[in-house]
This record gives sequence, structure tokens and C-alpha cells, in this order.
Amino acid sequence: MSPSEFQTAVLNWFDQHGRTHLPWQQDISAYRVWVSEIMLQQTQVSTVIPYYLRFMKSFPSVQDLAAAPLDEILHHWTGLGYYARARNLHKTAQQVSSDLEGKFPNTVGQLCELPGIGRSTAGAISAIAFHQQAAILDGNVKRVLARFAAISGWPGKTDVMDTLWTLAESNTPDQRIADYTQAMMDLGATLCKSSSPNCPACPLSKTCVAYHQGNPQDYPGKKPKKTIPVRKTCFLMINNNKGEFLLQQNAATGVWGGLWVFPQCDNTDDIDQTLEELGITPQGYSVLDAKRHTFSHFHLDYQPIQVILATAGIIPNKISEKDNQVWYNPQKPISLGMPAPIKALFNGLNL
Ligand code: ADE
Repeated sequence: MSPSEFQTAVLNWFDQHGRTHLPWQQDISAYRVWVSEIMLQQTQVSTVIPYYLRFMKSFPSVQDLAAAPLDEILHHWTGLGYYARARNLHKTAQQVSSDLEGKFPNTVGQLCELPGIGRSTAGAISAIAFHQQAAILDGNVKRVLARFAAISGWPGKTDVMDTLWTLAESNTPDQRIADYTQAMMDLGATLCKSSSPNCPACPLSKTCVAYHQGNPQDYPGKKPKKTIPVRKTCFLMINNNKGEFLLQQNAATGVWGGLWVFPQCDNTDDIDQTLEELGITPQGYSVLDAKRHTFSHFHLDYQPIQVILATAGIIPNKISEKDNQVWYNPQKPISLGMPAPIKALFNGLNL
């Protein structure tokens, strides 16, 4: 199949089956496309939609986003994971707003200079928002192309990735670029799925090598398995007589950078000392069931500890109002960014 036959097949399929009602496909602007592409980097469409709608309502323009406190943005991100995306979103909004007069650049090269925008995301913004001839290679497109040309090996390896990019670029049309870009994502998401792809419905099956070999599920090659380490921590859920819990803000970098979490210690032997350092004298504490949260590169096994204060309800004034500490009332929540496990612990308290 020549590139032009490939493009025609993909675009004809898009005209009949492509998605056109996603929220970021309405009132298209570089700002709206950029936010959607960042949210969609590691998260599925169905999860992203409600987050996207709330985000756009609160931050309708790049200037609104630039002017918002990071906490407010992280609060909107709570539960989406990969919080570096939200921090980079804020940085990019500030750069675009202050250095670029609120206008996003339209080329892949310039877009890639902004925090959090890689080559594929830059291609998607350039193609969808600016109708520039730019290639994308997100997870969906990697799968479609790896199967179509039976490119073996894990795309995390440079040579495999280079082959896929070359194929992506050579198939990218100079007409209807926005539709083509969306079509390739839609093909990957709706037909060319990781497991049980719907090959008979696919516009590319006629010459798809993996389909004819009978093994589309073998492409793209899997990441070599390695076991990831386990880290352990205790979350100290310290509750005062106003129904408030002590939360602390993490430093800006790291997996939960800038998010609000319970005070922590490495293991249960350190609880007394950690509480003492916080100026808290507990009457006792109860150890709740341990849970696991898995990041891309480690498991976090966390042990929630419910801490009962010694003198019923006295707020230890030593710690009441430091910048990175807050007494948080889950029944009257303020806008703080919290990792999903912390939010889940609050939800599980049946307050
Ligand atoms: N994944 C990444 N970008 C997307 C988009 N624009 N539509 C649907 N899924 C996507």
C-alpha cells in the first residue's frame, strides 16, 4: 500500500467511523488541544472527559491557567496520576502567557521546547490545532504501525522507535492532516486494540502484515519484564477535635511533588518519634489494613495509622499554621491536590 493509498483508506474510514464529538474536538484552539493531549498522554479518553470538562470550566484560557495557584491545578488533577504533567502544564501556561503573548507556537520544534511537550504531543497539537503537516506516534499509533508493517521489538528501544517514526512520517498526508491524526488515534483506540483487535473492520487489513501472519497481538514487542522495587511507608492520619486531619505538602519534585499527604514515617517502630517531632502526644493509635499503590517504577506499600490524640481534641498549636502544613476538614474540603490513595483513605473513613 503506497502512502497515498494508506492515507485514503484511513481518511475514508474516519469519515464513516471516526470520533467527532469528543469535548476537545469542539471549539478547537491550541490551548484546548494542548490540555487534552497532555491529559490523554497516560490516561484513557473515558477517564479524561470529566476531568477535561471541569478543567476547562475553571481555566478557560491559557492566561487563567497561568494565573492559577499550582495547588488549584493539582486539585483538578487529583486522581489522574502522573502529576508532573500538571506541574509542567502550569509552567508552560506561564511561559506561553508571559513570553509568547498567550499564543502557542505552531511548529513541532518550538512546541517541543515547552515543558511537558514531547515529539508526539507536539505533532498532535501542530496537526490538530494548526493544520501543519506533522506526524504523531503515541501508544495507539505505535500499535497500528508496528502491526501494519510487522515491526518487531519493543518501541522503547531507539532503533524500533526510529523505524516507527520514519513510517509515521512517510505516511503523514499534507491534506486533511487534523482528520488523519485523529483517525490514526481512533483506529488504535477502537479497532487495533492491544488484545482482540477487530481486524475484519480495519481499513488497513488488506495489506497489514501482522494480520496476514495471523499474529497482530505480538506487535508491538513488549517491554522486557523487570521486577520493580517495593517501598514501605506509614501514613499518620492525625485527627483533631474539629474533624480535621493534619496534611503536609510534599516538596515540588518527585512522584507526588507538590501534593498534600498525611505525615509519614518509614515503619511502625518510628511512629512515636515522628509524632513527637510533630508536637503530638497520642493516646494511642490503630493500625489499618496495609495497601499497595503501584507507580511505573516502584510499588508503594502504605500502612494507614489512625492516630488518636491524648487530650481529647486539643490542637497542638505548635504545628497549626506552617506554610506546608494544614488542618484539612474532609467534610468541608478546600482545593488541595491529593494523590488518589490519600483521597481514597478519606473516602473510606465514613465520616
Ligand atoms: N489520545 C491522544 N490524543 C487523543 C485525541 N485527540 N483523541 C482521542 N484520543 C487521544
